[in-house]
Amino acid sequence: MAHVLVVDDEPSLRQTVSITLSRAGHSVDAAASGEEAVHRIGEVLYDVVVTDLRMEGVDGLAVLEAVKARDADAEVLIITAHGSIESAVQTIRRGAHDYLTKPFTPDQILHAVDLALERRRLRTEVRSLSRRLEDPNDPVTLVGHSAALERCLDVVREWAESDSTILISGETGTGKDLLARMILRYSRRADRPFVVVNCATIPDKLFESELFGHMKGAFSGATRNRKGLAQEADGGTLFLDEVGELPLEVQPQLLRFLESGEVRPIGQNRSLRVDTRVIAATNRDLLALIREGRFREDLYYRLNVLPIAIPPLRERREDIPVLAAHFVERFARRLGRPVRSISKRALLVLSGYEWPGNVRELENVIERAVMLAKGNELRPEHLFLPGSGSTDPDGGAGPKGQGVGDPMPLAELERRHILAVLKACGGNQKRAAGVLGISKSTLWRKLKGYGVDAASL
Ligand SMILES: Nc1ncnc2c1ncn2[C@@H]1O[C@H](COP(=O)(O)OP(=O)(O)O)[C@@H](O)[C@H]1O
Ligand SMILES: [Mg+2]
Repeated sequence: MAHVLVVDDEPSLRQTVSITLSRAGHSVDAAASGEEAVHRIGEVLYDVVVTDLRMEGVDGLAVLEAVKARDADAEVLIITAHGSIESAVQTIRRGAHDYLTKPFTPDQILHAVDLALERRRLRTEVRSLSRRLEDPNDPVTLVGHSAALERCLDVVREWAESDSTILISGETGTGKDLLARMILRYSRRADRPFVVVNCATIPDKLFESELFGHMKGAFSGATRNRKGLAQEADGGTLFLDEVGELPLEVQPQLLRFLESGEVRPIGQNRSLRVDTRVIAATNRDLLALIREGRFREDLYYRLNVLPIAIPPLRERREDIPVLAAHFVERFARRLGRPVRSISKRALLVLSGYEWPGNVRELENVIERAVMLAKGNELRPEHLFLPGSGSTDPDGGAGPKGQGVGDPMPLAELERRHILAVLKACGGNQKRAAGVLGISKSTLWRKLKGYGVDAASL
């Protein structure tokens, strides 16, 4: 299905074309004049605009220009009377896809729109392919070959192209962000905006204005018009990360947006349609939150259209060796270190560990290890794993290992201190942040970096 705008000042033609295209499954809007068309183009991103050439006032050429200014990838199809073929040819030079001379059959217009869509699809595909070629070292892809992961990847390929809402669930560090980006890459919106909203860090009071925007003077401090993130994502994808953390008070606002597809900036009395694909992610058990009265059931069903659950790393241990090798290769290259392989014993340690912080924790452990290792093999003494004897969060910070005498990196000291304080505060992040003298969002970022699920502390 595509978004099509039909522009013609002749009512019967406008209607026939609109009906033909809607019957074929497209979502069709109609405009009776060039002015109206330009107005709509400012509000909605269309895939194809079918426009009459000769119109009073704003003509087809001006419509073409407005479309291309808004979105260079949108295709324009010109409808023209016999007498004006020459000017129709002109429009092609200016970027129109094709022109049709009146009269034409329903099949002709359908075929022309299909070709325009195909051209649009190919263009975005070529661009995303060439972008993919830019960094062959770091493809956006989930590494691993466990059956569980393969299933997730199958689902991604199957669902990426649809515009339906996807809800990704999984413990922290399992790869939800990465999966969302993969979906984006396979989707027809690959080159469109990808706007991330972190529901855990956006303050409740600002949620509405951040997401839906505001007009100048709507409240004190609103010194100018501001576009909301949902509108920034128009034509693209809105990624609602940590959606389970969304305060109950603002959940109805999100629900309304998901149901209507419209946003209304604060202080504006008119709603704007936006075309955004929503991907949400959560490390929370949303059904449990619903039972506790902390998450709205209706919002859950709106989000949970296509669910993907990524299992924790400890439930797909086959992925550990490939992931570890992948990270060794990446960090050795990035940090310019000599490590090339992982010893059998180190692999045993990695495979036996519980990985509460999942892949993110593994990634961090390997990064530290690659930094510490002096030779070309990564060995158990380079791994700092709680409970493996090489680290003890509550113990001394002295050098470990015989004769190695590696001093503890500062970042490691900081990590241990933060975790100890958080533990002492009973997992209360606000209090811990106060004790540490850092902001709650800084603490949150650091915990995320450690691959620690604050809720599990
Ligand atoms: N299967 C995987 N292959 C490669 N890297 C992964 C994989 N899963 C997670 N990662 C990496 O682990 C880190 C955490 O993943 P992320 O997607 O941010 O997790 P989440 O959003 O679930 O907390 C990121 O650096 C990500 O690139
Ligand atoms: Mg995440």
